[in-house]
Amino acid sequence: MKITIVGGGYVGLVTGACFADTGHDVTIIEVDPAKVGMINEKKAPIFEPGLEDILLRTTGKNLRASLSYDSVSTSDITFICVGTPPNEDGSANLSYIESASRSIGTALQAAAGYPVVVIKSTVPPGTTETVVRPAVLASAHKTEDEIGFAMNPEFLREGRAIGDFRNPDRIVIGSNRPRAGDRVAEVYQKFSAPVVRTGLAAAEMIKYTSNAFLATKISFSNEIGNICKELGIDVYEVMNGVGLDQRIGRKFLDAGAGFGGSCFPKDVSSLAVLAVRAGIDPKILRAVLEVNEFQPYRLVTLLEKKAGNLSGKRIAVIGLAFKDNTDDVRDSRSIPVIQELLKKGARIVAFDPMAGPNMKKVFPGIEYAGSSGEALKGADGCLVMTEWPEFGRIDKEFDLMAHKIVIEGRRILSWNGAEGICW
Ligand code: UGA
Repeated sequence: MKITIVGGGYVGLVTGACFADTGHDVTIIEVDPAKVGMINEKKAPIFEPGLEDILLRTTGKNLRASLSYDSVSTSDITFICVGTPPNEDGSANLSYIESASRSIGTALQAAAGYPVVVIKSTVPPGTTETVVRPAVLASAHKTEDEIGFAMNPEFLREGRAIGDFRNPDRIVIGSNRPRAGDRVAEVYQKFSAPVVRTGLAAAEMIKYTSNAFLATKISFSNEIGNICKELGIDVYEVMNGVGLDQRIGRKFLDAGAGFGGSCFPKDVSSLAVLAVRAGIDPKILRAVLEVNEFQPYRLVTLLEKKAGNLSGKRIAVIGLAFKDNTDDVRDSRSIPVIQELLKKGARIVAFDPMAGPNMKKVFPGIEYAGSSGEALKGADGCLVMTEWPEFGRIDKEFDLMAHKIVIEGRRILSWNGAEGICW
């Protein structure tokens, strides 16, 4: 099929590349000329394991990037994959969605047949029906008999997005007209996952609810972890026992410094705003966010308990991305930790295998090391923030660890000299 993807960020690029890899003809529309250039040169503008291999296989054959919307009028289907960043009040900013919809509509003036426009971005329930559909139809000067609309949320984790795309737990297709939904189903013909067919707003809500539930599991686990820590119990042992109950499941119960990234914090906040607007007090969602907000500061408190006054102390912060396997620092739990350490007068030396350059934009004034070992040299204490596999070896590689104060924000070290945030 001929597919256009609007937006060459994490979701658009991975989706476009993976669709091309299954044989579809794909054009990715992106506003940033530098990104367009990189994609067309088979280089991934983001760090995502496996992505560049796909670009090498497909770019120049059945995958290309472009600044123009030309491909939309001849595509069977156009996916909107632009960002929905948070507004000041936590609600989702839909301005990129609106402007993409208008540009798609204008391009569809020249279209024949029955093109279908699909929202893949995470949007509040009602957006496809009340924002995208009218903007596209008005700009195209057409009716819903001539253009179809669908909602097809993504469930890709950064760092593991290619595997998640190829082996989804389910494919959700929301549409108010079967013909539009059938077109989306055709795109996924080669996938063996269960397909959930539903309405537009329900598909939008499935995405919000999935992210909110996963975030709830994490905050719940962190709260239990905080209790466990006081009682001298290892929360990982507890969750290993709890997670074997198939009604609960072990995944996303890893306690730590909380959830970050561009999705969970933003989506839970946006759902909470939606709830209030609908006249519902979102007690659970609020608690999920509150636990998450305070969790990183526990690391600093634990460090102070062991190291005393932090003023003038050299503290290594290892793991700067919002999790392992990515260079993305958006809403990383390391950010409030570093802010708090700086407030207390600590001297920081930071390291991440991939995210150093991105964190430098947030904290240009702190020191960055080229390796964990370098960060640890001369440090009075160390905070391990994420689960990069190489962090698990620092106790073996660096003898000096035995003499150090090491606090883990995620369980990665087998060395029992380290103290865990919740264990
Ligand atoms: C998340 C969802 O997992 C995807 O399904 C969804 O498609 C995506 O958001 C999105 O909406 O686009 P992502 O934010 O990339 O994906 O990363 P996750 O692996 O879900 O991790 C999110 C945060 O939760 C990270 O900070 C991670 O360290 C933390 N986490 C995760 C925990 O603290 N404990 C866990 O057990 C699991």
